[in-house]
Amino acid sequence: MKYYAIESEFGFDNMKMFDGSEPGPGFGQVLVKMKAASLNYRDLLIISGKYPVRSLPLIPFSDGAGEVVEIGEGVTRFKPGDRVVGIFFQKWLSGPIDAAKANSALGGALDGILAEFVVFHEDGLVAIPAHFSYEEAATLPCAAVTAWNGLTSGGITCGQSVLTMGSGGVSIFALQLAKAAGARVIATSGSDCKLERLIQMGASDGINYKAVPDWENRVIELTDGIGVDLVIEVGGAGTFAKSLRAVRLGGHISLIGVLTGASGDAGPTAAIRKSVRMQGIYVGSREMFEAVIRVMTLHRIKPVIDRVFAFDAVKEALHYMKSGSHIGKVVLSF
Ligand SMILES: NC(=O)c1ccc[n+]([C@@H]2O[C@H](COP(=O)([O-])OP(=O)(O)OC[C@H]3O[C@@H](n4cnc5c(N)ncnc54)[C@H](OP(=O)(O)O)[C@@H]3O)[C@@H](O)[C@H]2O)c1
Repeated sequence: MKYYAIESEFGFDNMKMFDGSEPGPGFGQVLVKMKAASLNYRDLLIISGKYPVRSLPLIPFSDGAGEVVEIGEGVTRFKPGDRVVGIFFQKWLSGPIDAAKANSALGGALDGILAEFVVFHEDGLVAIPAHFSYEEAATLPCAAVTAWNGLTSGGITCGQSVLTMGSGGVSIFALQLAKAAGARVIATSGSDCKLERLIQMGASDGINYKAVPDWENRVIELTDGIGVDLVIEVGGAGTFAKSLRAVRLGGHISLIGVLTGASGDAGPTAAIRKSVRMQGIYVGSREMFEAVIRVMTLHRIKPVIDRVFAFDAVKEALHYMKSGSHIGKVVLSF
């Protein structure tokens, strides 16, 4: 079977395709013929050596979907022919995160899914509902679960206001799921064209963060001087201080991403004075994944897929994602 691995050094050029023997499932394990994968910003960081992972060599990528082709002894949850998608943290099934659960991320602590065949423990998979294609299901494990965790840990309810940043994978799922919860979404983007798309998807207002560098003031104006209830904070160091200004007194910031860098100089004073609740979000559990699938099925929410590349064109797909021209998810079809 073909698979990709980052061999002995990080860097795009050191991720190569290899030919290996097809693995077999052991006790409690399931062999999956992979059909699709999706890219996350994390994959770019990992391949470039800017994200902590276990020692090399490493098969990259966390998000993939496929068909069960063989099951090991003792497997009860799946049978050959079932359509499945892997969960991001193979050992975080439910409850709060702990060290063992956090140390089970695909394509980081464990080998990932960028291979024609992958063996999973049966607990590390969820069934794909009929209305999702393999490509659509492959978009969910990291971005959709993170968005769901970010919204629910912020206590999203009907009538609240949510601020999303940019038009990447996490932010678009957050927009779709917040709309399904009956919330108002204010979205930012660096492109007017993308803002139009975000408004078509249900954002009530769009702000171009390049044309309006003090976009946080516009968020406050749009919320009658109050600020938003919940911020899905994917910007990091360059946006955090602005998020603290844009959130309402007693509001919530879900800390998710570091698109503009990881260390800044926003002090704690604004958070204290505003009684802001903040929650670091690290993807989520299988239970959260199952919840997000239920919500998306109920509301017939389809993942937004920008482009689909072939398995052989993974580097092209990564460069495309790095360029930032996508909206939603970039996908590989095997
Ligand atoms: N904590 C977790 O568990 C977790 C899980 C998933 C992702 N993340 C993190 O969340 C972030 C987003 O991930 P992703 O996979 O959704 O990324 P992505 O799909 O690559 O999205 C990137 C998008 O972010 C927008 N952006 C860039 N700079 C921005 C800025 N200064 N202000 C607002 N938006 C900006 C751009 O949208 P426009 O072109 O529209 O401006 C860009 O297309 C990354 O830092 C990633 O590492 C964390």
